[in-house]
Amino acid sequence: MTAATKTPETPFATTPLSPVLGAEVVGYDVRDLKDPRDVEALKLCVRDAQVLCFRDQNLTAAEMVTFLRTIGEPQYHVMRKFLMPETPEIYVLSNVKEDGKPVGNAYEGMGWHTDLKGQDKRTAFTVLYGREIPETGGATCFASMYRAYEALPAEKRKELDGLQFVYTYETQYNNRLKMLAEKGITDHSYPTELRPEQVEYAKRRHINPIVDVNPYNGRKWLHMATGGCAGIVGKENEEGVQFVLDLSDWATSAPFRYDHAWRKNDLLIWDNYGLFHVAGEYDKTKHRRLIWRGSIADER
Ligand SMILES: [Fe+2]
Repeated sequence: MTAATKTPETPFATTPLSPVLGAEVVGYDVRDLKDPRDVEALKLCVRDAQVLCFRDQNLTAAEMVTFLRTIGEPQYHVMRKFLMPETPEIYVLSNVKEDGKPVGNAYEGMGWHTDLKGQDKRTAFTVLYGREIPETGGATCFASMYRAYEALPAEKRKELDGLQFVYTYETQYNNRLKMLAEKGITDHSYPTELRPEQVEYAKRRHINPIVDVNPYNGRKWLHMATGGCAGIVGKENEEGVQFVLDLSDWATSAPFRYDHAWRKNDLLIWDNYGLFHVAGEYDKTKHRRLIWRGSIADER
């Protein structure tokens, strides 16, 4: 077992969760996070490990919101239906139904992606707090896009240099509906068509370099996503999409990957720069899952 390490500036010790990415913290209550120096230390730890898991947290929804506010400016999820009424900073991910009504979104996080894109502001950090966890399945899978970039052969790096990834919400929306239909899932919460006011936004092209740089640490990473990929600039067609999907398949393979097997009361916080994630499947007919989600706006 790897020994936990603690620097004098950090209020807790961290232990790696895998050789690739991720670290865990045992014996620290995130409600004790108050000193701004400790907050900065936490952010550094998250950016370093990419994913930080605080074990055995015991938070009310209000306390989770306090944690989010201590770190930065919370964001509100676009799917308002599953925001907690008293604490709308928290979005509920769940297959649980109460009085026949779903308490959360059961089909969130499909397809490898980063939450970075956000809405008005980028989303720097995502926080998930596991209240009810299935006995098997339901991992949250992560892939380090720093490590994938660093493992690329020189000529592939040259080929990628200057290429620009194109995302549209319309593509993501259509792909999600297609994925749900292929799996025969009909009890999902996605609207079957876009509202008129969403159409203009949905068509908007979001463009970023495939080889991107994290402004906080200068590390290069592969910035793309599978779900909303409309291709690359100059090739917004099947060929461009396939190019990104092939790259993504490789970049999310075992050498760059850590799959987080949840324990009840884990609180995960991850940095959306340099990292992809996807929700692992679980048997929704047998297990209950209840996760609270929050996110923090980028400071830049
Ligand atoms: Fe996500």
